[in-house]
Amino acid sequence: SRTSLPNFTIEPTTTPTDAATREALLAKPVFGRVFTDHMVVVRYSDEKGWHDAKVTARRPLSIDPAASVLHYAQEIFEGMKAYRLETGGIATFRPEANARRFRDSAARMAMADLPEELFVEAVDQLVRIDADWVPHGEGQSLYLRPFMISDDVFLGVKPASEYLFIVIACPVGAYFSGGAVSVWVSEAYTRAAPGGTGAAKCGGNYAASLVAQSEAKAHGCDQVLFLDSRERRFIEEMGGMNVMLLRDDDTLVTPPLTGTILPGITRASILTLAAESGMKVEEVPLDINEVFEGAASGRYREAFACGTAAVVTPIGRFRRTEGEAVFGDGKTSGQVTLKLKTMLTDLQAGRSNDAQGWVHRI
Ligand code: PLP
Ligand code: COI
Repeated sequence: SRTSLPNFTIEPTTTPTDAATREALLAKPVFGRVFTDHMVVVRYSDEKGWHDAKVTARRPLSIDPAASVLHYAQEIFEGMKAYRLETGGIATFRPEANARRFRDSAARMAMADLPEELFVEAVDQLVRIDADWVPHGEGQSLYLRPFMISDDVFLGVKPASEYLFIVIACPVGAYFSGGAVSVWVSEAYTRAAPGGTGAAKCGGNYAASLVAQSEAKAHGCDQVLFLDSRERRFIEEMGGMNVMLLRDDDTLVTPPLTGTILPGITRASILTLAAESGMKVEEVPLDINEVFEGAASGRYREAFACGTAAVVTPIGRFRRTEGEAVFGDGKTSGQVTLKLKTMLTDLQAGRSNDAQGWVHRI
């Protein structure tokens, strides 16, 4: 029935990567290039609900050329990580928050509703079978990519009646090569409009951001910052991470969740941890002109990007046609940024007390 969760069939690969090869790959993992031996696949049809749950050898999918995802892009994904705990064992961080957001993304894209327990169980299964792929190094982890695609063989434009939910994993190190990043403020492009898909983690949002990311690169920047689409005045977020600033009254500020930005789990976690540590936090609209003036006057002292892949990455400068807003020396992390990063990563690695019950041991 729809309410009972399918049991997972486990079919371990018959050609596992040998230990020496795996250890060599884990020594210096590049984000998103190396993958583990297994994947999880669960099927959905309107008739059967979620069924045929499998942990199986990672392999190419067989997709009909008329599969609806290839034409109308019903695709959503999540990004999360499994960490080695200082005390031994492996854990993910707030997986139920990713499961919840996945359901919200699915609802926005008129896709099948995936029960949160099934999402968490699928991720746990993959981490368990590929546990040897979780790297040991500082700042390293196993990046998990749960995603869903529509799989109807039909070119009519309507919500599909069949879906695949898949989880793959790759060992990763830092997303950025180190130091503070430079960020191009896009003037030509916006990411999301009110009523659009900005708050959903759907592939289309990323497809639409790539030309702006290329524009950022062309201006010598690492990342792009999007402004609101109505006035092109308020900071929204970057291509793949949320943005926070530190004001000179020791207040941590970040744009509010107005429906056009992704509700980051790192963002939410940092807001909680900062407030608990006694910092003032505000979710307020941030006018880009005020931020440029404030960086010059010292009103804004630090800036950073936050997200699963980026963790906490200092922003050295925002750049636009009329000039630059530089934070600190433009190269290294501000002190508060560093403190917040340490608070978050200590918790994720089991080095500090998990008061909220965010660490999910596998
Ligand atoms: N904003 C965008 C566009 C993202 O892709 C991400 C990364 O997942 C985030 C924000 C941060 O979200 P989270 O902290 O849940 O990883
Ligand atoms: C993540 O952090 O999980 C993202 O989706 C962002 C992207 C840079 C991979």
